[in-house]
Amino acid sequence: MNADGQKQALNWSELGFQYIKTEFRFRAVWHDGAWGEGELIKDEFIAIHEGAPAIHYAQQCFEGMKAQTGPDGRILLFRPDLNAERMQRTAARLLMPDVPTEMFVDAVLQTVRANASWVPPYGSGASLYIRPMLIGIGENLGLKPAQYYEYRVFVSPVGPYYKSPGLGMISLAVSEMDRAAPRGTGSYKAGANYAGGLLATKRAQELGANEALYLDSREQRFIDEAGSANIVIALKDGSLVTPKSEAILPSITRRSIMTLAEKKLGLTAVERPIELRKEIGDFAEAAACGTAAVLSPVGKIWFDGSWHEIGEGGQPGPIMQQLYDLLVGIQKGELEDNFGWLVAVD
Ligand code: PLP
Ligand code: COI
Repeated sequence: MNADGQKQALNWSELGFQYIKTEFRFRAVWHDGAWGEGELIKDEFIAIHEGAPAIHYAQQCFEGMKAQTGPDGRILLFRPDLNAERMQRTAARLLMPDVPTEMFVDAVLQTVRANASWVPPYGSGASLYIRPMLIGIGENLGLKPAQYYEYRVFVSPVGPYYKSPGLGMISLAVSEMDRAAPRGTGSYKAGANYAGGLLATKRAQELGANEALYLDSREQRFIDEAGSANIVIALKDGSLVTPKSEAILPSITRRSIMTLAEKKLGLTAVERPIELRKEIGDFAEAAACGTAAVLSPVGKIWFDGSWHEIGEGGQPGPIMQQLYDLLVGIQKGELEDNFGWLVAVD
């Protein structure tokens, strides 16, 4: 809460997905083989050396998480340990030091707690987006790892990611550019993957789509993922499928959705290669999923020069509706958390 224990005076239900400055962020610096103490600070700017590997060679990575307010007023995080593990995996790939899980989660808890007045209230439809990041800083010129690293966590209240709030439909356009190679960095949350996708997103949006859909870079046949979300598909045979690929980000939302589909809806949930052109006729429903995207049903996909509709023309289907209700219900603390996914910020 702010000084007088009140929430900030924001129009919570009107928020989009933009940066709003909150009061505190966490910062810790790694040097000589160890992390320093770490602290909450107020300055949102980072002063780093002009030779820092983060800005030349993209030696940096990040995570994305959300905090929600439950009906009882508790602030809830969703599976933060998995974000910590994913950052460790990315850091290892980019030759950066580990942020241990306890340090990662503790910094998130401290940052959210310190900015409690910015956590959207229950029922507002908004949430607090959390952005942990790890950057290679210090003086450097040649292509080698940084001497120092900064781990930082900042937060911003956000509304829907796509301009189609709630369970509105989105559309995707297959990109002619690849996002990642099978043995490249596609399965890591490295900022470099996103810089390479900016032009693909722009092209997709010029076609009227919300974002780009990438096919596998070897043959351009199998679905990989969208620019900022994984894909799940309900087939007409009643099963739920999601792409198996070495080149996509292992989404925590998708993993949770697959578990909910199996354990709560009794569906067969399978991870396997999905051939877009051959299989689209079998799609009953499709959706993009991720922390920012939540679960956004996909109504149509552009490829080979035309739009291809999925399902019942423009309405969210029953499977995605149920999965959305289950996922968001658990994340907001409205439904029982049978899986031990929530961590309360107390
Ligand atoms: N794929 C990409 C490229 C992403 O940026 C994200 C967002 O984090 C996801 C998938 C979804 O991952 P998660 O559900 O862990 O947020
Ligand atoms: C997230 O969903 O947290 C992401 O990192 C996607 C980002 C491009 C907003």
